[in-house]
Amino acid sequence: MQYIITYSPCFIKNALKELKLLDEHICIVKDFCENMSLIETKFSQDDFQQLLCKNNIIFLKHLAPVSVIGQISGNLDEDKQILLQEILKSFPQVKLGEKFAIQTRICAGETFDKSPLNYSAKDIEVYVGTYLTDLGGVPTFSDKQIISDEDVNVFSIFINANTFYIGNSLSLFNLNFSCDEYRISSNKGKREISRAENKLTEALAKYKIDLGEKGGHALDIGAAPGGWTNVLLQHGFFVDAVDPGDLNPVLLANPKVKHYKCKIENIAQAEEFAKEHKYDIIVDDMNVDPEATAEIMNILTPCLKDNGLAIVTIKLPGNPEKGIKNAVEKLSKFYNILKINNLFHNRQEVTTLIQKK
Ligand SMILES: C[S@@+](CC[C@H](N)C(=O)[O-])C[C@H]1O[C@@H](n2cnc3c(N)ncnc32)[C@H](O)[C@@H]1O
Repeated sequence: MQYIITYSPCFIKNALKELKLLDEHICIVKDFCENMSLIETKFSQDDFQQLLCKNNIIFLKHLAPVSVIGQISGNLDEDKQILLQEILKSFPQVKLGEKFAIQTRICAGETFDKSPLNYSAKDIEVYVGTYLTDLGGVPTFSDKQIISDEDVNVFSIFINANTFYIGNSLSLFNLNFSCDEYRISSNKGKREISRAENKLTEALAKYKIDLGEKGGHALDIGAAPGGWTNVLLQHGFFVDAVDPGDLNPVLLANPKVKHYKCKIENIAQAEEFAKEHKYDIIVDDMNVDPEATAEIMNILTPCLKDNGLAIVTIKLPGNPEKGIKNAVEKLSKFYNILKINNLFHNRQEVTTLIQKK
């Protein structure tokens, strides 16, 4: 069985290592671009998907099965028909009321004399999606918000040069609902303080953390310029933002934000600080090494409510596996490690969800 996988280019080796732990004979059939490859495993789709679910996958971002490979013509009207007919022929019909998604990616290749196709992925999605909706299916879109539904019947279409690759799976087995990092999570239309905002928004959706709207008290360390603080404010939180850097003036003017313009080390050891503060949630996006991140989070444990959650990015400029291992070892003293993933908006880092023991 073949799959199209995506990963951060800086973590390709780590993503492949994860896959080799599932199937030592797994191999790359083709690299499409710097973050996307076709792989082959000896396992059936069902068996491989079960393996994926049982293992802790950190570096692999998205995976889509490939059951049918064929040729397109390059002409939109013809290709819409070719792809629709292939889906109707090769996969069980969408049931009445069943949630489905058409996820198309196009990677232009050499065969069309370097010119990309004169149509977009969206053209295919709308055409095939409309047909399946008419059959009674319920389309599920991820263009405007991040979706973490696991029960969506996903048809993945990938076009590279004049070849198409199609597969069908439940969204649960694709590691992420959507394959398109640029379309899913960007805060289109909303005002952003920083691009880092998307990182927290994605973590909340992906890890199914419902912060509600009533808020509480949050500690944001490594807060500047304030993207994460902005997200917490949107959920009604009072935010203590710690960073020696400048916070966006809009946030500084907000009475719910208190800026400690210093390093967290300057206040975290102070006994009064721990006594005076009990946060509902701590978020940490500091640019420091994995061990330092873990040490600071451990020092802050008394400030977090019992069973409180913390969302922490671990920066991985060096050996990624070693960095994660060292941080996890330290954090495990005081926290349960719930999730670790290289999310779409993470670059050379992973986002972790931890809970105070
Ligand atoms: C990636 S940026 C944070 C972006 C932020 N989450 C946002 O949404 O705008 C990392 C920040 O960590 C801060 N930082 C690094 N070491 C720190 C420390 N020891 N204490 C507090 N902040 C620190 C840096 O000043 C920098 O502003």
